[in-house]
Amino acid sequence: MAVMLKTGEEIARMRRAGAVVRALLDAVRPHVQPGATTMDLEQVAAGKVKELGVTPAFKGYRGAAGTPYPCVLCTSVNDEVVHGIPSPKRVLREGDIVSLDTGVILEGFYGDSATTVAVGGKLAERTARLLSATEASLTAGIDAVNRGGTLGDVGAAVQALVEREGFSVVREFVGHGIGTHLHEDPQVPNYGQRGRGMKMRPGMVFCIEPMVNAGKAGVQVLEDGWTAVTVDGSLSAHFEHTVAITEHGVEILTR
Ligand code: MF3
Ligand code: CO
Repeated sequence: MAVMLKTGEEIARMRRAGAVVRALLDAVRPHVQPGATTMDLEQVAAGKVKELGVTPAFKGYRGAAGTPYPCVLCTSVNDEVVHGIPSPKRVLREGDIVSLDTGVILEGFYGDSATTVAVGGKLAERTARLLSATEASLTAGIDAVNRGGTLGDVGAAVQALVEREGFSVVREFVGHGIGTHLHEDPQVPNYGQRGRGMKMRPGMVFCIEPMVNAGKAGVQVLEDGWTAVTVDGSLSAHFEHTVAITEHGVEILTR
């Protein structure tokens, strides 16, 4: 698939999709509390989708495994990296972390964003550092988009920040172009070398989404065909924004 550059009008639609994704995550966040289940969070997101009259992007989406993803939201707890499936049996505890990832389709265009949230007020110091480093690595990636250059610059910026903090970048999942499909070209790895890869240019819209493990980088997918966990059982965090390169500069559509 070639890179589908977006017109100003298309980016305007994607801005609206991005704002809805932001609203969903903002609606779910206050419900991340000790004692809540991940299905409680899904119900908040599903209610909001209904209220706003948008189409959830993930529900029914078929991955490599072929099993359709069943929910509006991905809820990945602790050593779960991405694509955790909400469950009424999964109760959140003080000190846990949970990554919330969601996407919508609005006027034919997709938005996609993720954030990782602490459960309760008391996080272990290293866990708090994992969250702040992962979020900072996303910011570093977006800063590289601002400087122009290539997608290798983005990956290199994310990777450098993560590894400087003593954490690891997941390799099996990467960011992606986004538009009339959830996943378009180009791929946007969270690792790489400066000056390598595709030159960034106006009209490109893509998701940068560092997945960062506190321990080793390896991940494996569970029997459910979706939930990715760290092989070593270490904690993992995930932050994602949909970013557009316009004629006027770089815009974060999901902020
Ligand atoms: N943000 C993830 C991605 O871009 C979430 C996809 S979940 C899925 O790949 F169910 F849609 F696959
Ligand atoms: Co994504």
